[in-house]
Amino acid sequence: MKALHDTWYVAAIATEVDATAMFHRRILDTSVLIYRKGDGSPAALHDRCPHRFAPLHLGKRVGDEVQCPYHALRFDASGRCTHSPHGDGTVPARACVRSFPLVERYGLLWIWMGDASRAAPELIPHYPLLDHALPTAVGHGYMHMGAHYELIVDNVMDLSHVDHVHGPLLNTAGHLSKQKPPVRDDGNSVLVRWEWQQQPPMGLFAPLLQDPSGPAEQFVQVQWTAPSNMFLTVGAVQGSRDYEQGLISWDFHLLTPESETSTHYYFVSLRNFMVESAEFNAMKLKNMIDTFKAEDEPLIAAVQAEMGGADFWSLKPALLSSDPAPVKARRRLAALIEAEAARRSQALVAA
Ligand code: FES
Ligand SMILES: [Fe+2]
Repeated sequence: MKALHDTWYVAAIATEVDATAMFHRRILDTSVLIYRKGDGSPAALHDRCPHRFAPLHLGKRVGDEVQCPYHALRFDASGRCTHSPHGDGTVPARACVRSFPLVERYGLLWIWMGDASRAAPELIPHYPLLDHALPTAVGHGYMHMGAHYELIVDNVMDLSHVDHVHGPLLNTAGHLSKQKPPVRDDGNSVLVRWEWQQQPPMGLFAPLLQDPSGPAEQFVQVQWTAPSNMFLTVGAVQGSRDYEQGLISWDFHLLTPESETSTHYYFVSLRNFMVESAEFNAMKLKNMIDTFKAEDEPLIAAVQAEMGGADFWSLKPALLSSDPAPVKARRRLAALIEAEAARRSQALVAA
């Protein structure tokens, strides 16, 4: 599929893959098997046996290896065939499976689907906040979304929709649409920020503020990093404009393309309030996922259906005051995908 391949994507939440799991997920239109070796380190293989193409996740684990369910070829975590019960046991040259670089970080498993020689772990986005989070203040969530991932980037990078789409928990009462939010473009990262005063404050914060019906200074900031990772900071404070003294919620929205029409949507949620409440933690994460499912997803899926697979720019979209950030993200990603394609064709010519 058309997407950036030489980059890290979230393949799973770390807890989705337990010690005995034969976890499988489709990423960039490729089936992937993820499992943990005896020492706990995770491994990822193409989930397809090279003999008759049986999905390997239907097979079984034999120590640190995986045995195909169909004719019992066995593969190690590097994808090498280590055992064949057929004939004299000779392993055919083609009997190997592609393995993918996989790194566990921030409670997530990050996979590299492109050229493995370029898979430097330093290229995983830097989210130092997640290094020291209290377990009761951090939540990891997953949603399967029936939409192309760039439509979801558009949704999160243009938060003017919150004024019109979201219910009382998130509603920003028309304050965002009026603004032309400042945008900072750092190349592979684009940052956009809105600030406003709202009374009563957003439902997310109101019950926790000193005066739940009074005015509050609020802000929301989104930082996109290529290809499709977004870091939101949302805050509210009363009686000053010093947001550090107020309530802050940090939310990571990390998107992994499954196919041209579907996306794995991972959330990681953090906050600076009620940090020791596991109940609040669970409720916050559930509220976020329920809100996206009920309020964002149906619209984004309807947009996709209406677009009918057409290229976004070919439809000549009208652009609004909140569009510079999502447009910059789209253009930057398109340029990265183009550069990657050029690199690959050069490599093919050279080979
Ligand atoms: S399909 Fe896997 S061994 Fe035959
Ligand atoms: Fe939304």
